[in-house]
Amino acid sequence: MRAAQVKAFGGPEVLTTVELPDPVPGPGEVLIEVAHTDTIFVETQIRTGLFRAYFPVEPPYVPGGGVAGTVTAVGAGVDPAWVGRRVTSFVDGGYAERVTAPATAPTPVPDGVDLRTAAALVHDGVTAAGLLEHTAVAAGDRVLILGASGGMGTLLIQLARARGARVVAAARGARKSALVRELGADAVVDVSERDWVERAREALGRPAPARTPEDTAEDTTGGTTENTAGDAAEGAADVVLDGVGGELGLAAFALTADGGRFSAHGAPTGGFAAVDAAEAERRGVTLFGIGDVQFGEERARRLSAHVLAQAAAGRLRPVIGARFPLTEAAAAHAAIEGRELVGKVVLDVRPGV
Ligand SMILES: NC(=O)c1ccc[n+]([C@@H]2O[C@H](COP(=O)([O-])OP(=O)(O)OC[C@H]3O[C@@H](n4cnc5c(N)ncnc54)[C@H](OP(=O)(O)O)[C@@H]3O)[C@@H](O)[C@H]2O)c1
Repeated sequence: MRAAQVKAFGGPEVLTTVELPDPVPGPGEVLIEVAHTDTIFVETQIRTGLFRAYFPVEPPYVPGGGVAGTVTAVGAGVDPAWVGRRVTSFVDGGYAERVTAPATAPTPVPDGVDLRTAAALVHDGVTAAGLLEHTAVAAGDRVLILGASGGMGTLLIQLARARGARVVAAARGARKSALVRELGADAVVDVSERDWVERAREALGRPAPARTPEDTAEDTTGGTTENTAGDAAEGAADVVLDGVGGELGLAAFALTADGGRFSAHGAPTGGFAAVDAAEAERRGVTLFGIGDVQFGEERARRLSAHVLAQAAAGRLRPVIGARFPLTEAAAAHAAIEGRELVGKVVLDVRPGV
């Protein structure tokens, strides 16, 4: 089978197409014929050799942690009813025509959701839904989303709005700002403007009035959440979702209301926001980090099923800014790094499916 392999740490050109033996499902595994492969920003960083402490891969390796496709075979001890099912799955080495996965990993894709859309939700959808769950975003919360025009940001806008939050989306440039407005953001700030922090303060405005229990938003991913906006300061966010890190992330931390929640789960700038934990404690800000979005298998499956159901119901639309054939994985990485695209990049392994 064909796969895209990183032959050495480096630029996009280190990704080349190779022929590898077809994988065979072992006991407890399924074989997935991949239709589309998800790509995420961090894969470009791992390819350069960054974050080796967290992602201990050594070249040559096949990148890719999420696919959508069809189960074509099962190993010993696995229910043969899986064969023929359309699924998404977390996998190792997803930039390939075929992959194996533990039979506990796949989530069935509902009718009405095409496999490309499903692939776009494997990481971003699950992480976005999980983030809103553990930061307990509720009706009336003012939520500031950094990196709002990216693969996950575009989903966060839609899912946070569905919870009744007031979304202030931070994006870069006019085209990306227009997209996030179209997706339902209540206000948009352009981070390429020098005064974006002031503009964000204005957009965040006053906290919503304290809610009665009847107003409390229902958490569709399980449990209920309580609105805390009534206690928050003017011109601040009850929840900040920082998918970019660095100086932008730090500026957004200053925009977090005392008693609010701040999630530093992204580092496309090269590093997570270096938030002062003592200051956060003094201000009563609850900090979340990259560790909080490493979900166990059961939670990931529940979140997967949730976002796929939302897509099937027409309530969630991933934004796929570009598609590349598997054989052009290097161009896909170059496009992600080029920062001109909106939304996410998907690799078409079997384009017609
Ligand atoms: N997707 C997941 O499941 C997942 C899981 C855990 C953590 N995360 C983290 O969340 C972040 C967002 O992920 P994603 O998949 O949504 O990525 P993405 O689609 O590529 O979006 C990345 C965002 O970061 C911005 N960005 C890129 N380079 C930047 C730079 N040098 N300085 C400032 N902003 C920059 C981009 O906006 P502009 O280029 O327009 O500025 C874009 O909005 C990543 O750090 C990722 O590692 C994602």
